[in-house]
Amino acid sequence: MKRDFLALSQFTKAELDAIFALTKELKQKQKSGVEHHLLKGKTLAMIFEKSSTRTRISFEVGMYQLGGHPLFISSKDSQMGRGEPIKDTARVMARYCDGVMIRTFAQETVEEFAKYASIPVINGLTDLHHPCQIMADLFTVIEHKGSYQGLKFAWIGDGNNMANTWIEAAAIFGFDLTLACPEGYDPDPTVMAWAKTNGTSKIEVVRDPKAAALEADVVNTDVWASMGQEEEQKIREKAFAGYQVDNALMAVAKEDAIVLHCLPAHRGEEISDEVIEGWHSVVWDEAENRLHVQKAIMATLMK
Ligand code: CP
Ligand code: NVA
Repeated sequence: MKRDFLALSQFTKAELDAIFALTKELKQKQKSGVEHHLLKGKTLAMIFEKSSTRTRISFEVGMYQLGGHPLFISSKDSQMGRGEPIKDTARVMARYCDGVMIRTFAQETVEEFAKYASIPVINGLTDLHHPCQIMADLFTVIEHKGSYQGLKFAWIGDGNNMANTWIEAAAIFGFDLTLACPEGYDPDPTVMAWAKTNGTSKIEVVRDPKAAALEADVVNTDVWASMGQEEEQKIREKAFAGYQVDNALMAVAKEDAIVLHCLPAHRGEEISDEVIEGWHSVVWDEAENRLHVQKAIMATLMK
């Protein structure tokens, strides 16, 4: 049976911890120049309905480092952009490729693709989830803090795809998460309900960013307007005023707190220049870890 990577909720803590262990091994091998061609001769199709820097490059380079071949496909330049049904594209691609990474708007598109493709499908971001990113984020936390266990996590800003996947992660891995979101920008209620039913972690949504960041070990934020919400930028700038990870906010977090941001960042909006460039920030390690963690995900699913 093929296995997909569409949301963290499809995996157990033990399975995700095994991905972290393989990530560590592959990262060490890469750094020390030890060949690790776990996907020799295999091909990964990468479909993008939205823009990307990190996801495209890290999957493409990662597949190459594993001895396989990546293929970039912009949905608008393929027949998908002219209305070929997802279920047809999925079955055809499965005849050529060994895996697919797909970035789309609707989570349903990724799910439909996975339903019809007989090969593993990896979610490279939808409006609902960003599971590869949160795996990279948690691996970065493990590197900097030794473990995610017993840490207090804070999310500041939009209850978006990133926030939703953090909520699933908190329930699965068993850490406490406080999200500060302005009214009207809460995380997805279905994801929240899933986390409450399937975990015992303390997960709460508050309005005050300082209440969320208080004594936090990990402070995390993301853009106020995600891809596809560009026309809401002005309204969102008003709604999110005060939801900035800046020095004043970091002053209430633990002294050795780390700051995560999936990038791209909008300095002066969700994060200040001082914080992203300052010593709490681990965003460059976080971006690098996309490569290592995704190699472990691909190797796990496609080997
Ligand atoms: N963080 C992230 O997914 O970046 P890209 O949009 O550049 O892929
Ligand atoms: N929430 C952002 C994340 C980008 C990596 C977006 O969906 O645009």
